[in-house]
Amino acid sequence: MSEMIKKLTVKDVDALIEIARSSWKWIYRNIYSNEFIESWIREKYSKDKLLNEIIRSQSDLDIILLGSFAESTMTGFIELKTSANKAELLRFYLKPECTHKGIGKSLLLEAEKIMKKKGIVECSLYVHQQNNVAVSFYKKNGFEVKDIDGDDFVMEKKYKDLQ
Ligand SMILES: CC(C)(COP(=O)(O)OP(=O)(O)OC[C@H]1O[C@@H](n2cnc3c(N)ncnc32)[C@H](O)[C@@H]1OP(=O)(O)O)[C@@H](O)C(=O)NCCC(=O)NCCS
Repeated sequence: MSEMIKKLTVKDVDALIEIARSSWKWIYRNIYSNEFIESWIREKYSKDKLLNEIIRSQSDLDIILLGSFAESTMTGFIELKTSANKAELLRFYLKPECTHKGIGKSLLLEAEKIMKKKGIVECSLYVHQQNNVAVSFYKKNGFEVKDIDGDDFVMEKKYKDLQ
């Protein structure tokens, strides 16, 4: 079954929050407690905040927020924030059972097409050092570790020489 990728709309907000919650509980199961994850989702994934970001993405402002869909069910999402010619990957989560099937790669490639159109030359991200699934995914997709910030690796991918 082929995956469809499109910009998220306001009606996708609840599905996005549920995917984030299930992905966090899977990938960070040995890193954060359930209570911490629940409070993080409540605070950082509040509906108001996400609706605002969906609208900023729909209006082609500083947010790129894409979802992957099988039939009409959301399987994952990627979110980036752009500022001048740079981007930061803010959130990237798939349903645990939908990982390892190439969906993440397709989402990243689609986001990269949009970044290219916007003239983005560099994308950075923060990833927990113990999140081997994501760190290996990013390395396979052209990101390099540039720094360490607390528990996180700071990774970066360049799309053009900056000069
Ligand atoms: C990171 C993520 C978005 C990548 O998307 P994906 O569709 O799973 O990745 P792809 O299938 O395109 O790429 C496969 C590669 O990713 C990594 N990977 C993806 N899923 C994996 C899994 N379940 N177990 C181990 N490695 C995995 C491996 O490096 C794999 O390469 P391999 O096939 O040679 O083993 C997805 O795995 C995910 O949602 N992970 C949990 C949430 C997360 O960690 N997000 C990043 C936060 S910074």
